[in-house]
Amino acid sequence: MKESQPSAIYLKDYKVPPFLIDKTELTFELDEATTVVTSKLHMRRNPDSTENTAPLVLDGGEDVKLVAVAMDDYVLPSGEYQLVDNQLIITATADNFVLTCETLIEPQNNTRLEGLYRSSSMFCTQCEAEGFRHITYYLDRPDVMSVFTTRIIADATKYPVMLSNGNEISRELQEDGKTSVVWHDPFPKPAYLFALVSGNLEVKNDTFVTQSQREVKLQIFTEAHNIDKVDYAMEALKRSMRWDEDVYGREYDLDIFMIVAVDDFNMGAMENKGLNIFNSSCLLASPETTTDDTYLRVEAIVAHEYFHNWSGNRVTCRDWFQLSLKEGFTVFRDQSFSADMHSDTVKRVEDVSFLKTAQFAEDAGPMAHPVRPASFIEISNFYTLTVYEKGAEIVRMIHTLLGAENFRKGSDLYFERHDGQAVTCDDFVAAMQDASGVDLTQFKRWYSQAGTPQIRVTDEYDAQSQTYQLTLQQETPATPGQPTKLPLHIPVRLGLIDESGNALSVSSSGHVSDEHLLELTEAEQVFEFTQVATKPVPSLLRGFSAPVKLSYDYSSADLLLLLSSDQDGFNRWNAGQQLAVNELNTLIEQAVAGETLSLTSNLVEGFKSLLQDASLDPAMVALILNLPSQAYLSELAQVIHPNAIKQARQYLKKQIAESLQADFAQAYQQHQVTGQYQAEAKDIASRSLKNLALSYWLESGDDAAKQVVVAQFESADNMTDQFAALSIAVHHGHDKADDLLDAFYQQWQNEPLVVNKWLMLSASREQEDAIAKVTALMEHEAFDLKNPNKVRSLLGGFGQNIAAFHQVDGSGYQFLADQILVLDKRNPQIASRLCTPLTRWKKMAPELSVKMKAELERIMANELSKDVYEVISKSLA
Ligand code: PHE
Ligand code: ZN
Repeated sequence: MKESQPSAIYLKDYKVPPFLIDKTELTFELDEATTVVTSKLHMRRNPDSTENTAPLVLDGGEDVKLVAVAMDDYVLPSGEYQLVDNQLIITATADNFVLTCETLIEPQNNTRLEGLYRSSSMFCTQCEAEGFRHITYYLDRPDVMSVFTTRIIADATKYPVMLSNGNEISRELQEDGKTSVVWHDPFPKPAYLFALVSGNLEVKNDTFVTQSQREVKLQIFTEAHNIDKVDYAMEALKRSMRWDEDVYGREYDLDIFMIVAVDDFNMGAMENKGLNIFNSSCLLASPETTTDDTYLRVEAIVAHEYFHNWSGNRVTCRDWFQLSLKEGFTVFRDQSFSADMHSDTVKRVEDVSFLKTAQFAEDAGPMAHPVRPASFIEISNFYTLTVYEKGAEIVRMIHTLLGAENFRKGSDLYFERHDGQAVTCDDFVAAMQDASGVDLTQFKRWYSQAGTPQIRVTDEYDAQSQTYQLTLQQETPATPGQPTKLPLHIPVRLGLIDESGNALSVSSSGHVSDEHLLELTEAEQVFEFTQVATKPVPSLLRGFSAPVKLSYDYSSADLLLLLSSDQDGFNRWNAGQQLAVNELNTLIEQAVAGETLSLTSNLVEGFKSLLQDASLDPAMVALILNLPSQAYLSELAQVIHPNAIKQARQYLKKQIAESLQADFAQAYQQHQVTGQYQAEAKDIASRSLKNLALSYWLESGDDAAKQVVVAQFESADNMTDQFAALSIAVHHGHDKADDLLDAFYQQWQNEPLVVNKWLMLSASREQEDAIAKVTALMEHEAFDLKNPNKVRSLLGGFGQNIAAFHQVDGSGYQFLADQILVLDKRNPQIASRLCTPLTRWKKMAPELSVKMKAELERIMANELSKDVYEVISKSLA
């Protein structure tokens, strides 16, 4: 262990920066061995700071070597500055000065992938959150916004493309044969939005004409062999630009917008001003190599990064505690965009199902934190589902409470008030409140209170007076550091339906409608409805109007009614999900008790009628028939028994498959897609139902299905169908699974993104010697510990391999812990994210829990990065 452990920083300690940087001039002399960075920072004391004698403290990194520092033209002798804990401290400063720093960095040795690093043949950067300090000494905090001018000097035969933010203002050949290119970005920005890329890249060009008729040049850069896979991203970019004008009135501001794909990247993508950098897995797409899911993800992420130009860049965060200011809002924007491009119900179901599985689990675990955290040790650990997805739910609730029109007024006011500023979540809410007149005072607790609220609903119907009463009680469980909670302001959308499934038009607070919005603000509240003709079944929390766990004592008959007739498509899915969860929970109990499994409900009949209902969107049918995941069932469980959950799911799947064999075979034929591949809602829907039907059909044991799987694998003209056939074969014990896996690798070994899917699938395959197989894959030519995508694929796949990961002897946990320790030395961000499954130890069945804990303790005994230290120490606390 380290002698001194890393310490936390707190939101309550925020102070404005004592210095500002009006202009930042950077020069990079790019070189494989050592890159020389010269910075000229035009600084002055901040008039808003009370610390007017404070020393100048600049952030740096252990990987930055200081060569010289000068103030105006005076080169500081070593006695006039100090280097302490990677910070450069200068005590005596003027009020206005130019600070010049020369530093050396080694991009090729940068394995953290923060700052300037090499990926394949190129140089690229990643500066959010605190990566810029790995390039040079700086005031590396988002409330220091500066106008950047960047000169890149490199050998243009090796690195012909040299990019940075803003506009290229000059390009010239130097006397030494190198090329010098200068970029200028007129918009002041924090250092986290700085970017530089240089390499031998191909480009695809396009243009976009903005609403005010300005022509913007669009460019996507990749290595030569990938340039044929960027058309889809380019179209998605243009759709995003148009949508942001139409829906938010936001026009793009520079004359050029560039995107670069890189293979080595810690996250999905990054919104650097005018120069987005993408993980190639989130940008490249072609029918032969990319599945439907990935197409949709590419579109969503292109939109997300583009939308940040306003929600993030023009208006940015004051400090990193406010991260959700840009991320929650931008996720909400990209979700709305995708809903508009495809099906809003399908999109909502997918987003909610992800939130309920992964964010709810985070909220219930040792790393639970509010959407606006009050403290952190390492900010990289807070790019979480809570900040992103729950943050988006908060913005969505504001949208629901204000209505679309007032919400738009609020966003207009927000951008108008704060353009060019670094602001807080409170500023965002204030703009929404001021523009709409809706009081959001209590609502703001959503930002500061962690944990998933639980709402208990009970009801009473009085036939005589035709009144119906709903009682709602809310309670938020304790989370680390927050033992007690206050009531939240929760929007609950609902409708009432009669026994034949018709919407009941009823009166609530004098307002007659078949849908109502309740605002729950107290711990317990009663809502009354009149003119209720018959005893209703309530359809609660429509569209998942708040990120809560709602419970109401529905009978199976109620759920079947909602499933077949709810006017709200989302709630039909939810009813189907609830039916399946109830059935599975009973089966899990049977499995834990060692009893023979048997079905107790009429779920199968419900599914049968769904399959036969031609009026339904096939995508929705597929979503409902897709059984609740292992992960979701684990989240719901008080105590997790992974093998019982697995057994229950397998049993239920088999029962459904056998009972409805003919229906699945028929659905498979019915939903074939003809014509050229298109990543468009209708075709995606058909493929999803067709492939789901195939997996049930194979599970039913029909030999015909076995042949169909192989035939589809061999003849598919798109990756969605080919990979679906392969996954089905692997996960349903097809006797040709080995052959197909081999054939797939042979076919795609030169397409790294496809190989990653193969790694993931191979690692998740349940077999006796799975750990040995995964260990062998780590030595496979296709694997590379340096590449985050490959690590995520292999170890992510392994995490889904229930039998292997949850071996009772703890060997699965031990394997993961070993990898975490190795990776922590190279790339702390990736290592830290791999810890997540182990953090859930307290909820595991006792025999597994002790083994997980032992691995956490073993990790803890090492010298760790701040990233891993924070996650492990909080998990053990
Ligand atoms: N800001 C990026 C996004 O959400 C995510 C990111 C964070 C990327 C940190 C890299 C590093 O769009
Ligand atoms: Zn983002």
